[in-house]
Amino acid sequence: MKRPAAFIAGTGHAVPRRVVTNADIAAMGVDTNDEWIIERTGIRQRHIAGDGETLTSIAADAARQAMTRAGVHPGEVDIIILGTASPDHLLPATAVEVQTALGCSRAAAFDLSAACSGWLYSTIVAESLIANGTANTVLVIGAERLSGIVDWTDRNTCIVFGDGAGATVMRRSEGQRGVLSHFMRSDGALAELLWRPAGGGVLPFSPETFAQRQHYVHMSGREVFKHAVRSMAEATDRALDAARLTAADVDLLIPHQANVRIIEATAKHAGIPMEKVFVNVDRFGNTSAASIPIALNDAVEQGLVKEGMTVLFAAFGAGFTWGSLVVRF
Ligand SMILES: CC(C)(COP(=O)(O)OP(=O)(O)OC[C@H]1O[C@@H](n2cnc3c(N)ncnc32)[C@H](O)[C@@H]1OP(=O)(O)O)[C@@H](O)C(=O)NCCC(=O)NCCS
Repeated sequence: MKRPAAFIAGTGHAVPRRVVTNADIAAMGVDTNDEWIIERTGIRQRHIAGDGETLTSIAADAARQAMTRAGVHPGEVDIIILGTASPDHLLPATAVEVQTALGCSRAAAFDLSAACSGWLYSTIVAESLIANGTANTVLVIGAERLSGIVDWTDRNTCIVFGDGAGATVMRRSEGQRGVLSHFMRSDGALAELLWRPAGGGVLPFSPETFAQRQHYVHMSGREVFKHAVRSMAEATDRALDAARLTAADVDLLIPHQANVRIIEATAKHAGIPMEKVFVNVDRFGNTSAASIPIALNDAVEQGLVKEGMTVLFAAFGAGFTWGSLVVRF
């Protein structure tokens, strides 16, 4: 097995103050109920951003925590990569706004668009930049403020998503800990199963697109579900094979927190018992690019990630995009 080039030196997460329960969504007039949402998704509540809680502010809060825990000061950060599908502005990247908020004046900063796979893709890019000598310290953030682009009258989507940010600091690895293997894949032929039709160059915002609610996220839930299960199964197999490991070597699986049924199917396929699978979708909903780093930091804070442990990460998102990582802590 190759010696790891980069390791995760610190983790952090931040979520907006306001908690919205399933009952709160039903009370907004959405035709749904707590029992159905819990049974079909495992979600009980999510955090939703209010005034002043921008993507930049949430992402910067998560990043500050990760940097403190990694013992990294702002001037040491070489690169900031922010995975998101809900930036503060269409131009420029939210990563540069986060750079300014953090005072990482030496850094290059850019956003990475891979939807719910955003943090995982960004981590693979960060590892490559460290491996090829471009950077020593990379701040990787997955952050979303999806509440602004979700249709709060569409029960298909508004029950699923939440806002938040997770961050990790990646540094050059000196020892045996770090990224052992990774896998990433996409399929653009399926883009329209989970997308935001309007707002880009093909269909700019117009009174018609607003009337047809095309500025919101649209999702074919059942189709997405099937592809998520299939793709995350492939992802776990591929990263384990590349690391020459088996399910028995995995101490913890941290999957994208989309839906508890997708997580259970992924674990079952991989042959990893649910006791070794981290789940917090009940408290945060699907926070897209933020979901894995929030889950990782939550697991770290609960003392579930210890030195020497092998952790398998698996992601799936719009695009479609999917991928996996094996990391030794
Ligand atoms: C969205 C999702 C929860 C819907 O669950 P589902 O089991 O596929 O639900 P369906 O759309 O097949 O609908 C099943 C029934 O529940 C009803 N229903 C759908 N949404 C509902 C809701 N929010 N509340 C109450 N009832 C609902 C439907 O009308 C349907 O009723 P019927 O059988 O009487 O026609 C599920 O498809 C899912 O999680 N998909 C993946 C989403 C995801 O993870 N996206 C992000 C990927 S990164």
